[in-house]
Amino acid sequence: MKIAISTGGGDAPGLNAVIRAVVLTAIDRDWECVGIRRGFHGLYDGTGLLPLGVEEVRGITHLGGTILGTTNRGNPLRWPKLQPDGSVVEIDRCDELIGAFRREGIDALVSIGGDGSLSIAAELWRRGLPVVGVPKTIDNDVCGTETTFGFDTAVSTATDALDKLHTTAEAHDRVMVVELMGRDAGWIALHTGISGTADIILIPEIPFDMEKVCDKIRERERVGRHFAIVVVAEGARPVDGTAVYAERRQAGTSDRLGGVGEQVARGIAQRTGKETRSLVLGHLQRGGSPTTFDRLLALRFGSAAIRSIADGEFGVMVAYTPPNVTRVPFADVIGRPKTVPLDSGIILTARHLGISFGD
Ligand code: F6P
Repeated sequence: MKIAISTGGGDAPGLNAVIRAVVLTAIDRDWECVGIRRGFHGLYDGTGLLPLGVEEVRGITHLGGTILGTTNRGNPLRWPKLQPDGSVVEIDRCDELIGAFRREGIDALVSIGGDGSLSIAAELWRRGLPVVGVPKTIDNDVCGTETTFGFDTAVSTATDALDKLHTTAEAHDRVMVVELMGRDAGWIALHTGISGTADIILIPEIPFDMEKVCDKIRERERVGRHFAIVVVAEGARPVDGTAVYAERRQAGTSDRLGGVGEQVARGIAQRTGKETRSLVLGHLQRGGSPTTFDRLLALRFGSAAIRSIADGEFGVMVAYTPPNVTRVPFADVIGRPKTVPLDSGIILTARHLGISFGD
């Protein structure tokens, strides 16, 4: 068997651990592995395939990024094509891609990605390519799996940042507003905010009211707590407004959220008179070494993907259903982003700890 591995979408700590586990588990069966460079680009642009053996995956478990490279600009279902008049249209290059897989003699694909890459994987499978998916994203918004690798590392990095913000916020009697990633799901903000003892957490699932946000800050002032930490998910929005975008989607690109943290900070300063600062933690959340949890999950996912191929089970994503790694059909996963359930225990815990959601 010749197995191809692709890493697509935004990177997440643990990608290299998955690659290593796929390769070593495949070699254990005397199978061959190749990596596709930068998502699926290697099969389009002549940069080609990277043969992956024991040597190539040595010492990479703890490394962030991906040795294959990745992109969130190369969707074969919506490939940007420049027209003679200078406009750009999106074309479907999936069949061309499947042709390239056949020419290269690839028997199966392990596609490691988030919702976007898994949708592409599902379409390639529907058109006849044997595919197994591995869920990856720091956002933790893939349904069918308890968690994705990368999430724990992102939360750990963000919690570290909150610990540091606390000391400077308290020293200056300031309100510090920190914007975290997560797209349309509040997982990173929620887990970080609780672990890092934020006073206010704003998530997309609970539209916020600026007055209620400020009430919490005033309440702290009254009891002699002159500083506050506000965690804002990048996809959070006010009850009477919309999400804030840094960039809107054009042919071949996606919407990019960004800016709500600064808006919230301005609103707080205007309404309460408190000295307020905002920061965007940004791509720091995607970088660095995976945590032990993410390494282990990534290694288990990679190995399980090869076992699924060995069992002839395709069109599935490996998933974490504690304590086991299981398989979930693509149909149960694609187009169903996992957001924070409002009645979940973790929301209740936050409320019982006195954290405000601005509602
Ligand atoms: O999906 C991962 C993620 O980091 C999101 O949290 C964020 O909105 C987006 O990717 C940022 O994408 P880019 O790397 O294109 O700025």
